[in-house]
Amino acid sequence: MKPIVIANWKMQLNYRESMQLAEKLKNELPDNYLAGREVVLCPSFSSLLLVGEMIRESNIKLGSQDIFWAEKGAFTGAESPQFLFDAGCRYSIIGHSERRTNLAETDEIVNKKIAGALFVGLTPILCVGETRTERESGRTDAVIISQIQKALTGIDLIPTEQLIIAYEPVWVIGSGRAVEPNEAEHAFGVIYQTLVDLLPKTILQNNIRLIYGGAVDGLSAPNFVKLKHFGGFLVGSASLKLEDFLAIIEKV
Ligand code: PGA
Repeated sequence: MKPIVIANWKMQLNYRESMQLAEKLKNELPDNYLAGREVVLCPSFSSLLLVGEMIRESNIKLGSQDIFWAEKGAFTGAESPQFLFDAGCRYSIIGHSERRTNLAETDEIVNKKIAGALFVGLTPILCVGETRTERESGRTDAVIISQIQKALTGIDLIPTEQLIIAYEPVWVIGSGRAVEPNEAEHAFGVIYQTLVDLLPKTILQNNIRLIYGGAVDGLSAPNFVKLKHFGGFLVGSASLKLEDFLAIIEKV
């Protein structure tokens, strides 16, 4: 599978700014350049359709920053996985730490969202990672293992489906300084081993990508690209400026 670079624009750009950045990226990323890598933009919901329209003729893909699990119904304020797919999304960030922290998103909710995404053909980008307190008390591995086991309970991936797991140490997100690559490599190993017990080998080899997220930039990116199991990046701050984001994409 190609490495993937995912821009998580969070709640940072309004629709005009999102369209401007999407247009610049479309102009800077010709199709032949994207032959060897995938690039996904995850704008805020109010920009989703416009950004989707802007990149429609390109090979840049569209993702959402969240979804709801049900396809349709009386769920005020929620976004249906099916509606997002119809709007052009092919990926969905699920269980980002900012949602776990600010919106009390539990592993059980994350699990339902993953099932909901896969059901309509969206590829989930499952975020896992430890907080500073968890890290300092030596619980990093246990936290990652538990998040993955709970998120994937009852999920049987079939060969046409994909799953991306983003290791995002919570204490590093937005800090301006990425984790040491050997720590990410260790986390990738823990994630991989956890998946060995949960998924058939062929699915693990062909349908899963492990990516790193947390203050990655053009300078730190090359240190992660060479790691075993490296499958791409989830980028926050450095995806908000054209040059910064391109500097990461070109290293992958
Ligand atoms: P950051 O955000 O790159 O700004 O640390 C990453 C993320 O939250 O996905």
